[in-house]
Amino acid sequence: MKKVRIGLAGLGTVGSGVMRLIRANSGVIEQKTGLQLEVSAILDLDFSGKEALIPPTCVATTSMEEFEDTEQDITVELIGGTNVARKVIEGALAAGRGVVTANKALLAEQGQELFSLANGQKLRYEAAVAGAIPVVQSLQSSLTQNNIIKIDGILNGTSNYILTRMFEERLSYEEILPEAQRLGYAEADAGFDVDGIDAAHKLALLANLAYSSYVPFASIFVQGIRDIKVIDIEMADRLGYMIKPLGIAKIVDGHIEVRVHPTMIPKSHPLSTIRLENNGVFYDTDYSGEGSLTGKGAGSLPTGSAVVADIIQLGLQNTNPLPFTTEQKYSIAEAQHIQSRFYLRVMTQDRPGVLAKISGILGDHDISLASVMQLESNTEIVPLTMVSHKANEQSMMDALMQVKKIPEISAEEVVLLHIEE
Ligand code: HSE
Repeated sequence: MKKVRIGLAGLGTVGSGVMRLIRANSGVIEQKTGLQLEVSAILDLDFSGKEALIPPTCVATTSMEEFEDTEQDITVELIGGTNVARKVIEGALAAGRGVVTANKALLAEQGQELFSLANGQKLRYEAAVAGAIPVVQSLQSSLTQNNIIKIDGILNGTSNYILTRMFEERLSYEEILPEAQRLGYAEADAGFDVDGIDAAHKLALLANLAYSSYVPFASIFVQGIRDIKVIDIEMADRLGYMIKPLGIAKIVDGHIEVRVHPTMIPKSHPLSTIRLENNGVFYDTDYSGEGSLTGKGAGSLPTGSAVVADIIQLGLQNTNPLPFTTEQKYSIAEAQHIQSRFYLRVMTQDRPGVLAKISGILGDHDISLASVMQLESNTEIVPLTMVSHKANEQSMMDALMQVKKIPEISAEEVVLLHIEE
C-alpha cells in the first residue's frame, strides 16, 4: 500500500465532492490501485459549516504559508480564479509536487507559462473540461494515434440546461437562469456560462490536445445564449433542428477553427439528445471514426470524481501523458476562412419591401436563402426568420451590418446562429 498525501486548496463545491468521494470510496481505491489517499492539509477562507468534511489528522488552515509547509505529495487546486490559484500551483510545482486542478480559466488563459513551469508533466486537469467526462484522458491516450477531424462539444452545463428547458417547456432564458444557479451548475459569475466564456476555456484545452497546438484563448470566436428567444427555439424546431451551445474545433485549410456559439444542429445529431446540465463531446477521427463521450459536466460529486481520477494517475506515477502544447502550430481561422449555413432572425415593422431589402443585401454578398418564414401576427413588430445556404462567415457579418441599418428593423434584436449539419 502506498500512501499519497494530498493538500487540498479550496473546500467549495468541487472540494467537498473530492472529500466525500475519498472518504466513501477509499476501500475501492485501495483495492484497485494500492493507493491510500490521505488529505493531509486543506486551505480555505472559511471552514464554518464544513467541519464534518475535515479528517481528524488533517491541518485545516486559512494561511497559505501554513498550507504550503505541510507534507504533500500532490496539491489539488480548487480555488478558482487566476490569482491565488496560480500562486498555489506555482508553489506546488516549485516544491516538486504533483498538481491537479479543475481551473479551466487559469489554464486556458495562462497555460503557456504554467505548463512551461510544469515541463509538460505533473499537472493534470481532467476536471477542468466537461466535469466527470473522461475527455482529457481520452485525448491524451486512447485517441492519440488518430488525426482528429473535428470536435463538437457541449461544454457548458448551465447553457445546455437553459436551452434544454427553453426547448422542452418554452420558458424564457430569464425564467430559467436562476434555477441553474440554485442547482449549483453556474460559475460564481454566471456571465462566464451564458456568454460562452467557460466553454471557450474548455475548448482551448481540448483543441490543444487534439491538434498539439497552443490555442490563445482570446482568439476563440465566442457568442453566448442571452439573445436567444423562444421564437428561435420554435423556428429551429419546425425546421428539424435544436439549438445547442457548441464548442467546435477543426482544421480548415491549414488553420485551426475554434468557435463557441449557440448552434442549430439536426435532431439526428448525437449531441441533440444531451439534455439539461449534461455535457457531451462528439469527435470524428481518421481511424477510430466517429464517437462521443457524454455525462455530467458540472456538480460537486461528478467534478470531484474527475479530480480524484487525476490524483490516482499521479499517485500511480502516470505523470507523462500527452502534454499541453505551449507552441502555436496552427494560426486561427478567421471569419473569411469559415463557411456555414446561417439562421437569421430580425424583428421588423410589418411593411412592404422589408424582405426585398434584406434579400437584396444578402444577394449582394453572395448569400443565397434556403427558406424564409414570417408567422402571421397582428402586432406591429413581427419576427422574420431566414435560413441561408452555405455562405462565407465574413460576408454574412458584413451583410448583417447593413441589415441592421434598415429603418424598419430593430438593430438590437437581430439574432444570427450557425447551423451545423
Ligand atoms: N459552470 C460550468 C457549467 C461547470 O455550467 O458547465 C463547471 O465547469
